[in-house]
Amino acid sequence: MAEELVPENPETPESEEAQPIKQRKNGLYPGVSDELAENMKSGWADTELHGLEPIAQAAHTAARRAALSARFPGERLVIPSGNLKTRSNDTEYAFRASTEYAYLTGDQTHDSVLVLEPKAAGGDGHDATVYLLPRSNRENGEFWLNGQGELWVGRRHSLAEAEQLLGIPAKDVRELSAALAEATGPVRNVRGHDAGVEAALTDKVTAERDEELRVFLSEARLVKDAFEISELQKACDATARGFEDVVKVLDKAEATSERYIEGTFFLRARVDGNDIGYGSICAAGPHATTLHWVRNDGPVRSGELLLLDAGVETDQLYTADVTRTLPINGTFSPLQRKIYDAVYEAQEAGIAAVKPGGAFRDFHDAAQRVLAEKLVEWGLLGDLSVEKVLELGLQRRWTLHGTGHMLGMDVHDCAAARTEAYVSGTLEPGVCLTVEPGLYFQADDLTVPEEYRGIGVRIEDDILVTEDGNRNLSDSLPRRADEVEAWMAGLKG
Ligand code: GLY
Ligand code: MN
Ligand code: MN
Repeated sequence: MAEELVPENPETPESEEAQPIKQRKNGLYPGVSDELAENMKSGWADTELHGLEPIAQAAHTAARRAALSARFPGERLVIPSGNLKTRSNDTEYAFRASTEYAYLTGDQTHDSVLVLEPKAAGGDGHDATVYLLPRSNRENGEFWLNGQGELWVGRRHSLAEAEQLLGIPAKDVRELSAALAEATGPVRNVRGHDAGVEAALTDKVTAERDEELRVFLSEARLVKDAFEISELQKACDATARGFEDVVKVLDKAEATSERYIEGTFFLRARVDGNDIGYGSICAAGPHATTLHWVRNDGPVRSGELLLLDAGVETDQLYTADVTRTLPINGTFSPLQRKIYDAVYEAQEAGIAAVKPGGAFRDFHDAAQRVLAEKLVEWGLLGDLSVEKVLELGLQRRWTLHGTGHMLGMDVHDCAAARTEAYVSGTLEPGVCLTVEPGLYFQADDLTVPEEYRGIGVRIEDDILVTEDGNRNLSDSLPRRADEVEAWMAGLKG
């Protein structure tokens, strides 16, 4: 990559902002002649865009802001998108806007902040303003001399364009510190995304009140609107294509490593979506028993299983979370199939328990019961009854994790929701969750027969609660063992 002439902080101090290029940095920019500086100021076309249509979810983001406004009347609410994060030296990780900001605005730019300001005395509700980095100034040279200048990072929307697209009045983010400094009255901030905003608000907010804002925004996402459901379906469909891509290149993965699988799925995620929604777990052989195996650097061997847990995140930041456990050579061995079928049966029981009015915990309990029954049947728990095993939780040596979680913009969505709203809550139409039972026999587990050791199976689907039951958004991928084998044979040709 090319090096900037003068790398500098993207947040040009306001005092420098208006000054001509030659007076900044105590004088001259190295290597920039007066003539070049002058030359670069002019000769650029006006590219302002007019008559832009609002983004597809503008009505939904407005409704989400209205719900937030109603919950915190009379309080100033500050929701940042977040800043770039350094990977090393002067390179940054790919930016991903904070879920809260993107949910409320539909925007994904960095260093941006949504502020809901209570209407002036007498008025109900809030006025929303989105504070953004504007187009780069050409007069003072920032567009080509600043690392966040548009010449380096690409054109941004002007504030007027952003207003048309988002349906929210937009201001220059460099005005925000002063606006926050002047603010009076109660303020709440979503923490963890923008240290600069937090520093500006440090005397105006409390941890408890900020947490209430975070909790509200987490719980607001428990029930998905129509736009979100269609995004989740898109994510699942793209993810299914990614799993097909992987099956088609299993021979290449065998010749190289799990990385081939990771790279193959990532290609699909970038082509059909924004990114992967979380680190892909490409776990071949005994790696399948490591729940978060994301090193993905191990061998892929015929005769073993591949546990692939991966999800495409859409351009609007909704992710799928899907797992299939596949026989690398296309055919389950009898023992692999026995374990796979047990997990499949548990998942079927779990999915059947997902319905409106049901308790969130029901699907976990249903799946765990099936798995406990199998483990008892296989003689792995001595002569204990299934009831006793469940009472003591002994099946968990091999089932390891909860059977599912909310899904949305975050793979573990709504994570700040209160227990009574989530884990101890009741399902309603529009809730989307994963059902993902598994059995994992560690390679060094001396309590199971040797042939079980190193086998891990998980099957994970994304289930939407509907008015009359549920819909499996990821059901275009087969789950039953014989269907998995037939699907793989068809793809390998
Ligand atoms: N991929 C993480 C999970 O299944 O929860
Ligand atoms: Mn998963
Ligand atoms: Mn999951």
